[in-house]
Order: sequence, then C-alpha cells, then structure tokens
Amino acid sequence: MAKEKVILDMDPGHDDAVAMMMAASHPSLEIKAITVVAGNQTLEKTVRNALNVASVLNLKGVPIAAGMSRPMVREQVIADDIHGETGLDGPVFEEHDLQRDPRHGVDLIIETLLASDGDVSILPTGPLTNVAMAMRKDPRIVSKIKRIVLMGGSYQLGNVTPAAEFNIYADPEAAHVVFSSGVPIVMMGLDLTRQVRCTRQVIDRMGAIGNRVSKLFVDLMEFFSKTQEEVFGWDAPPLHDPTTVAYVIDPSIFVTKPMRVDVELRGDHTYGRTCCDYFGVTKREPNAEVATTLDLDRFWDLLEDCLRRYS
Ligand code: BDR
Ligand code: CA
Repeated sequence: MAKEKVILDMDPGHDDAVAMMMAASHPSLEIKAITVVAGNQTLEKTVRNALNVASVLNLKGVPIAAGMSRPMVREQVIADDIHGETGLDGPVFEEHDLQRDPRHGVDLIIETLLASDGDVSILPTGPLTNVAMAMRKDPRIVSKIKRIVLMGGSYQLGNVTPAAEFNIYADPEAAHVVFSSGVPIVMMGLDLTRQVRCTRQVIDRMGAIGNRVSKLFVDLMEFFSKTQEEVFGWDAPPLHDPTTVAYVIDPSIFVTKPMRVDVELRGDHTYGRTCCDYFGVTKREPNAEVATTLDLDRFWDLLEDCLRRYS
C-alpha cells in the first residue's frame, strides 16, 4: 500500500514529541519534512527539542528546519507553564550530531509541496505561522496540499483563555489564513483531545515496553502530568498532538463532524477562539471536519504498536 506522505509542522513540546514518535515508526507514513515553529517555547528551544527527539528516534534523512520565530501580528506567547524552561523539561538528552537543515522552514514547506504530486498532507501541532506564511509566500502551494490535519481550537472551552486554545491563540491571524484557504482541514480540537487522558495506567503500560523510546515517553509524561495537574487540575494530562498522526494512520478511530470554523480576530475576551458552527445555524459551507469523539482503546493500542516498533 502506498505510504501517506506528511510534513510535520511542530513546536516540541511534550505531546508534539509523542506525535513525532508515532509518525516516525509507523510503516504507513512517510515523513517528507519536519518544520519547527515557535510556540510552546522560543524557536531556538523548539528546534533543539525537535533535533533531540529525532536523535532518540534515530530519525535520519528527514530534513528538520527552523521556521518562524514570531507570530504574524500579535505579540509572542509561550507555554512554559506546561512545557517548562526548555520546552521539553523532564528527559535528559544525550549529545548527538543531528543538524538542522539550512533552509528556512517556510521554504522547506514550499519546496516539498511544489515537488509533490499533490499527495502530501500537513500535520501542524503548533501555532500555524509556518503554514500560513508558506501560503502567503507562494500561493501555488495551496492547491498542492492534500489536506491539513491540525491540533488546535475548540468548539467548547479554551485552555489558554476561557475561549481560546493555545495553538490558535498563539497566532490567530495565521490560523485565519489557514482556515480560510480552502484546503481540506481536519481539526483535532480540545473537545477531542481532552478525551485522550494519559493515565498512570497508560504510562505504566507504555513503560513496560522497555525500549529507549518508551522510556522517553515515560520521562515526558511524568513531567507533563505534573504541570497539567498544577495548571488545570487534571488527574491525567490530555495528550493532544498525537491525535493528528493517529488520524492519518487510521481515521476510523475518530468521529468527525463537518463545521464552518472561523477564527475570532477582534474580540476582547475571545481573541483566538475557533467559532465552530456545530449546529450549522449559519448555513455556511463547512470548511473543516472537526473531531468529536474517538475509540480510546484503539488509540492506545496504536500508540503501543508504534512504540513497540523501536528496538
Ligand atoms: C496545544 O498547545 C501546546 O501546548 C501543545 O503542544 C498542544 O499542541 C494544546 O493546546
Ligand atoms: Ca504542540
């Protein structure tokens, strides 16, 4: 069977790292590029984190490039309360010689898409700055993107404000560019990812695999569990970003609903909210398939399967 070609666009980040683990191991995916954006931490830190994780995964031959260091319009926000000073606090990484690709992340997205047959999906798990900039820099790419499967937004409650989810809030103008682009979008919002709670039982189950990647998973989740409890009071953290990869591997795990999604760019209290027309009251054409529920057992089985593939 032909592999699903993907660009991972991320801001690692604990849950981004797990998304990378799944994508790099599963035989049905081919990672064409990893582009990094500022988000959970500043760009220098998220790039370092991406290279550190890729090195543990032994991910060779995939270009990893630094993209945008700032949002398009708004002032920068980071999520150090959740991901720590490095953006990936918890694990200790060994020295390695993996280098970043010299190209700018935005150019790498453009080059990868223009060289493709229109069969590459983008999986953004951070702010949408890189993807939106690529669309603006070379609009020819828009029709070349097979689809965008992103983690971001919410049709109910936010996390960084009562109304907004972090990835959208960190660059609402970029999110607006992406959601109004006409590219088919699948949205893994907080409504879905808050159902994916990484309990102690899950951490122990993955830890029992006993390879270097499952160890990294455990180290990441121990830290992530602590901050998610401190900030939100969760007894087990929502594992947001890997849902994008799981969807591309096996969409039948998820239930989605077509909705019109618009990004709020003006509200005093709602800046960065994804306004999702759940009931279709506006009668406007949906621009996204928004995930509503999933088969959690199958999701954890898939994660375990991915982690077991490492030696
Ligand atoms: C999103 O924000 C980040 O902190 C996580 O990595 C995830 O992509 C959840 O709101
Ligand atoms: Ca992320």
